[in-house]
Amino acid sequence: MILSPSLLAADFGNLNRDIEMLNDSKSDWLHIDVMDGVFVPNISFGFPILKYINKVNKKPLDVHLMIVQPEKFINELKEANARIMNVHYEACTHIHRTIQQIKAAGMLPAVTLNPGTPIVLLKDIIQDLHMVLLMSVNPGFGGQQFIPHTIKKVIELKQLINETGSKALIELDGGVNLETGMLLKEAGADALVAGNSIFSAPNPTEYIHQLKVL
Ligand code: DX5
Ligand code: ZN
Repeated sequence: MILSPSLLAADFGNLNRDIEMLNDSKSDWLHIDVMDGVFVPNISFGFPILKYINKVNKKPLDVHLMIVQPEKFINELKEANARIMNVHYEACTHIHRTIQQIKAAGMLPAVTLNPGTPIVLLKDIIQDLHMVLLMSVNPGFGGQQFIPHTIKKVIELKQLINETGSKALIELDGGVNLETGMLLKEAGADALVAGNSIFSAPNPTEYIHQLKVL
């Protein structure tokens, strides 16, 4: 299982310490949640903070943009050292063009779906994607309850990927812990984002290890 801890749940007063803990852990990527207060009802952080994170972080960045018109920031994301650029389907009018632009900039394109957005909308772009990020909560906040219907969406997405011969990975975000992580793995998930469950665990490094070997 690919594991992408979400920095949103870290202690921002001790960001160095928390990023170093993740550097030394068995996690694969670092999940970065950028929110604009328009696409989602919350604001997190932007490029100046990302610059700082880059000074300490050693893992590939899995950046999740919860913003309107994410295509405006492709160059900034590239400069911020993003490996994967996740844009919301609901935020992109010309999703096909945006995917091509992300590739042309040398990043891996991923499309994110909200819980209320059906899998079938991916049909004409799935071949072009490195990853699909399925939200298992409504985006905007950490620490929310996992939406059980997501399991059916993972199974449906896996079917679409198999039918089309796409190589897209399936990543899940929201309410992921050891219990929901196991269900997601059985349904066909390749990658898990986890924030609260990791950072509120008595031993985050050990919790990361447990999620990794699910
Ligand atoms: C929610 C964010 C998530 C969030 C997950 O809008 O996209 O990445 O950090 O947090 P948990 O794991 O606490 O649900
Ligand atoms: Zn996220």
